[in-house]
Formats: sequence, C-alpha cells, structure tokens
Amino acid sequence: ALSSFHISEEFGFLLPDPLTELPAPYSPWMDIARELPQLITNHQLRSRVHQMPQLSPQQLRGREELHLAHLVLSFITMGYVWQEGEEGTVQVLPRNLAVPFWEVSQALGLPPILSHADFVLANWRRKDPNGPLEMENLDPIIALPGGESLRGFILVTLLVEKAAVPGIKAIPRALGATLQGDEESLHRALEELAGAIEAMREALRRMHDYVDPEVFYSVIRIFLSGWKDNPAMAHGLIYEGVSPEALAFSGGSAAQSTVLHAFDELLGICHRQDCAAFLHRMREYMPPAHRTFVEQIRGAVSPRHLVHSSGNPQLRAAFNRCVSALAELRSYHITIVTKYIAVAAAKAKARRAELSEAGPAVRKAPSALEDKGTGGSHIFSFLKSIRDTTREGMIRA
Ligand code: ALA
Repeated sequence: ALSSFHISEEFGFLLPDPLTELPAPYSPWMDIARELPQLITNHQLRSRVHQMPQLSPQQLRGREELHLAHLVLSFITMGYVWQEGEEGTVQVLPRNLAVPFWEVSQALGLPPILSHADFVLANWRRKDPNGPLEMENLDPIIALPGGESLRGFILVTLLVEKAAVPGIKAIPRALGATLQGDEESLHRALEELAGAIEAMREALRRMHDYVDPEVFYSVIRIFLSGWKDNPAMAHGLIYEGVSPEALAFSGGSAAQSTVLHAFDELLGICHRQDCAAFLHRMREYMPPAHRTFVEQIRGAVSPRHLVHSSGNPQLRAAFNRCVSALAELRSYHITIVTKYIAVAAAKAKARRAELSEAGPAVRKAPSALEDKGTGGSHIFSFLKSIRDTTREGMIRA
C-alpha cells in the first residue's frame, strides 16, 4: 500500500496537512522562524541565533513534529548562512543551532540542510481548513525574503506535486497489471499517468503569474543554495558540536522531488551516466520512505517489456504518451530556467556593470551560481540531457 511508503492517496508525496505549531518549549525556534524575512533583511538573524537557547529535540513526538522542526531549523540555517550574501558567508554553524538540527535530521533520515521536503512538502497550510488545495487558499508555513514571489515559488511547486497524485496512484496498478499480463488495466494506468504528467506541466505554467524573475534571481535563490559544488562556500560548513570537519551538502533542487524519479523508473528511462549519478545522489535528500518507493519500482518488472512484447498498438500509444508528456514537462522546465536564471542573470550582470560605475557600496546580485542550479548541477546541460534521454524512451513499432 502507498501509505507504507508515507505516500498519501490524497496528497501524494506532500505531507498531509502539516503541523504549524511546535510544542511550547520550542517557542524560541518558532519565534525566530516566524520573523525570518524581516530578521534577514535587517541583518539581525545571526545575532538572534547567537542568543537562542540550545534546545534538545527529545520532547518532539512523531514524524509530524519532527518534520516541522526540520523545516524551521533548515530555514533558520539558510538565513544564518546567507544573511550577508555570497561574499559574507560563515564557516561555522553555531552549536545551539547545529546540534538540534543534526539530531532532528538523523531522526528523519534527512540531510541537515533545506531540501525539497522542507521547502515544499512540509511547508503548507490551508487558510480555510475545509477549503480546497488552491493558490488562493494556501500559504507557506515558514517564509524567507522575497514576499509574494517566494510564496508563489513555493506554492506553484506544491501544485505541481499535487497534480502528480493520480500518476503516483497509477504506479502500483501499472506494476500489478504488468505482473499479471493484464493489458487492459495497464492501458488504463498509463493513460492516468500521462494525464497527470500533462497536468503537472499546466500547473507549472502558473510560475509566470506568481513569480517575478528579478526577485527570484536576486533575492530568493541564494537561500536555496548549499555548501557543496558551490564556489561561494567551497569549504563546506562546520556544524559546531557535531563534527570538527566541515561538511558539504547540496542546496535545494527539484531533482529532490520523488515524482519524476518514480515515473522515470516506471517507464524505464535511462539517463546519461553523469546525470544519473547526480539524480541518484539527490535521492539521499528525500524522506527515506519515498526513496524506498523509487527503489521498489526500479526492482519491479517494468511495463516497458509488456508493452513491447504485446505488440498492442493502443498500449504502445498510451506508453508513448507518458514518455512524450514527460519530455514536454522537462522542456518546459528548461523554458522556466531560461527566464528565471539565464535571462535574469544576464540582466543582473548588466546592472552590476552600471552600478559599479556609480560606486562600490551597492548591493550586488549573487553570481556564484550563474551557470549552476542551486542543487549544484550544470543546469542547462543537465536539463537538456535528461530531456533528450527521456525522448529516447519512446517505444517504436
Ligand atoms: N534549483 C533552482 C535553481 O537553481 C531552484 O534556482
């Protein structure tokens, strides 16, 4: 059953109705987290963190509380590290933050950095608890600088995850049908999957309505950046009280979403070795139960073989509709990245040149990750390669 992989029938990989409050002893964390955008913008977060008591996570109960604690501590950590921009980073995360963050991470099997699981999966609440899962009725629980664009970036990504749900539910059905050689059921499951991937692309379009490229590039993006494969933090980060050596962790990335990993494995898509290596590393940033789900699909008999050997043209068409929808979604992602990263970076660079003529003391947009994703991949060659290898997954007559 999906629930044994911590997957919900209604919400897929999203955490169902996440908690929004921690138990009272954790109010020092919660108080900081609620004011995070202002504390960062006013350059006060680091001193607030230094005054924070060191709390033990011992009194947190259950996965829900642990997920909220991880969300809160990961956002505070990103704010702490990047408060002064990419030229004012720190080498040490202080022990009163590092130790509890490490312990909560261990308890959940997540890395001690902000990941997709924090930023999106556990970071949503309904304004009206009985209302729908729609933009107007949603808010993130914890925010960073970036105002409405930050809200839009989180929630559009969330709606893409939500759109995937019928496709996720089709996976066990597709695998069962394959095992039984039941072509009709497999056909139905593949049609469901294709429809879900098409709906994900529709959901992603809303990025244009809710996220301003300049704000995304110049304000938001740095807070998703990590301390691995990032020239601005080439030496990693020392988690004081955890380990004397600096540790390196990748920043947040859509590659940490379990959805496309699961669909790729189901459809038997094979990515180029360097891309596959990056994707596999990103699985370490997923909740362990979701990672296990992907591995189980990989270990199962792929519907690909049945589609191939059956010679059934309807079945082949449904399978190919899935593959082409997946390639389209990846193409569309490239379009978004072009606007929000490549074009935005070029504009920021032009502005930097103008400003440096105006004088030195002006705020600079970040530049360390101009050509890379916040997860550290070489963003365009990576996205184009996985799009192209997806297309190669089509089954020919
Ligand atoms: N991975 C996205 C980026 O690189 C968020 O900006």
